[in-house]
Amino acid sequence: ATTLGAAAAQSSRYFGTAISAGKLSDSAYTTIANREFDMVTAENEMKLDATEPNQNQFNYTSGDRVANWATSNGKRLRGHTLAWHSQQPGWMQSMSGTALRNAMLNHVTQVATHYRGKVYAWDVVNEAFSDNGDGSRRDSNLQRTGNDWIEAAFRAARAADPGAKLCYNDYNIDNWSHAKTQAVYNLVRDFKARQVPIDCVGLQAHFNSGNPVPSNFSTTVSSFAALGVDVQITELDIQGSGTDQANKYRTVVNACLAVARCTGVTVWGVRDSDSWRASDTPLLFDGSGNKKAAYTAVLDALNGT
Ligand code: G3I
Repeated sequence: ATTLGAAAAQSSRYFGTAISAGKLSDSAYTTIANREFDMVTAENEMKLDATEPNQNQFNYTSGDRVANWATSNGKRLRGHTLAWHSQQPGWMQSMSGTALRNAMLNHVTQVATHYRGKVYAWDVVNEAFSDNGDGSRRDSNLQRTGNDWIEAAFRAARAADPGAKLCYNDYNIDNWSHAKTQAVYNLVRDFKARQVPIDCVGLQAHFNSGNPVPSNFSTTVSSFAALGVDVQITELDIQGSGTDQANKYRTVVNACLAVARCTGVTVWGVRDSDSWRASDTPLLFDGSGNKKAAYTAVLDALNGT
């Protein structure tokens, strides 16, 4: 196959990208995005601050632009994200306790209901664990509403959209030996044991020199999958250039291809210039839209060549 989406489809996987609503009028951007990818994540447009700028006043204008672009171009949609400590609207940032818990659950219910039937998988909860190396939860206003806030969010999402796969999504859970990875693994294992609805784990996979692709990455993918959930690589980008970057991309894609329940890979933007960290040149197309060595490595891996 000659495109990333078609190559991934040969093994019933998808290959996606983050899409920014503000770039949908850039034809160089949409030409590549439409040609290469078959799954779309809104980079910012479905987050809490975008969708509920004032309490109980929902705004789906930008989110719908991304969703409609995906639908009209025959692509599936990943929802990102329903409950997160970051990018909360101001009114939510200052809330706490039962009022915040109820506001969070209302947000999950309303947004998942709006997009019901249109979303392949939701990142229900994003980045709920800390990076301090002890496997603890991240301190946040949501965490302070009680340790059960994550499962409450998943139950509300399932009730609102029973057809969407419900994912826990995080970064720095790529290295199997890290406490944060083990903590997320234990959360998912506990949810499966207690039949809390969870269908997938998203490994964001933002890699750079300080956070390299770990040598045990494939162990992480296969270990989560062995819990009985799908695994998706949800926000892949890798700092670098040339052959070295290409080899790292190949390693990550091959780790997914080796695990039946790793169902797809999404890169976090189209061209390097579209990236949230553009100076790292972390994506598959350069700023002029040319395919990089990393692109060829990924396409070859997906084609098994
Ligand atoms: O839209 C405003 C614009 O009106 C304003 O002029 C400009 C000035 O700073 O800001 C614009 O908003 C920015 C937005 O991106 C759109 O470009 C925000 O400041 C900026 O904070 C926001 O950054 C996003 C970041 O999440 C926020 O947390 C990045 O685009 C987005 O790529 C990034 O994505 C996250 C995932 O959601 C979760 N995992 C990590 C990943 C990378 O940080």
